[in-house]
Amino acid sequence: MMPTNDQGFTVLRKRILKERGLDLSQYREKCLKRRIDVRLRATGVHNYPEYMVVLKKDPLEYEKLFDTITINVTDFFRDKSAYRFIETRIIPELLSSKKRKGMKIIRAWSAGCAGGAEPYSLAIFFHQVLGKRIGDYHISIYATDIDKKVIEKAKRAEYEANAVSGVDGKILKRYFNYHLKYTLKEEIKQMVRFKRHDLISEKPIAHLDIIMCRNVLIYFSRHLQVKLFNRFYKGLNRGGYLVLGKTESLNGVASGLFKPISIRERIYQKI
Ligand SMILES: C[S@@+](CC[C@H](N)C(=O)[O-])C[C@H]1O[C@@H](n2cnc3c(N)ncnc32)[C@H](O)[C@@H]1O
Repeated sequence: MMPTNDQGFTVLRKRILKERGLDLSQYREKCLKRRIDVRLRATGVHNYPEYMVVLKKDPLEYEKLFDTITINVTDFFRDKSAYRFIETRIIPELLSSKKRKGMKIIRAWSAGCAGGAEPYSLAIFFHQVLGKRIGDYHISIYATDIDKKVIEKAKRAEYEANAVSGVDGKILKRYFNYHLKYTLKEEIKQMVRFKRHDLISEKPIAHLDIIMCRNVLIYFSRHLQVKLFNRFYKGLNRGGYLVLGKTESLNGVASGLFKPISIRERIYQKI
């Protein structure tokens, strides 16, 4: 039986904040406990106070704990229909609106980008939709994550065959080089800028046309979700798009800030 001692849990959370600066108070408690319990089992201890002793003795355990908390599962074109919608509706609409305003700058943000599949998928779509006109635009896709290790991995843009198994053959051939691994071509890599960034404690990126924050908010409390929706609202240009994960949706006051473009695909537009 794993411990559910709330006092021990709060003390552990405070210790992690003090020692490593990671504030877990706004993550969903049930979900967080489930993850921490994985490390309790792995280190053979039975409760949170015992686990704090492990953390004190073995500083490397912090890294393992953080790896477990920030599950980095991701995939190229994760949820195909959502990406199809982005390719066929959002990008063309955005380009028309830029044309009307005579603007050539496009800024997008993949917040909680894990190993880079999400921002690179977006970059590939911009490249495909624009074709030869790509050089007429200045496209910046910012990609951030709290986990330094995944950011480093994402920058390398190298993927094992199983990580690209769902990618359409034509895209694979056009945008990746293959030598033992699949590596994205420079023309796509250079469209994406990676940076470590904590969504909870740091300011969001501003002047954006698209924010993709998919499969990240599910780990956060409702209160923090609302706070982040407000920040995203401020970070977006007027008419900018917010793309959430398939199981996420706007809640509370935030639903007054955006209008749904596709409820099914969880795509919203700043009012
Ligand atoms: C399940 S992955 C989602 C990856 C990608 N967005 C997708 O949908 O394929 C969740 C990511 O959120 C990141 N994350 C968790 N807490 C975060 C925080 N406070 N700030 C920024 N990123 C965070 C994790 O490190 C992880 O890489």
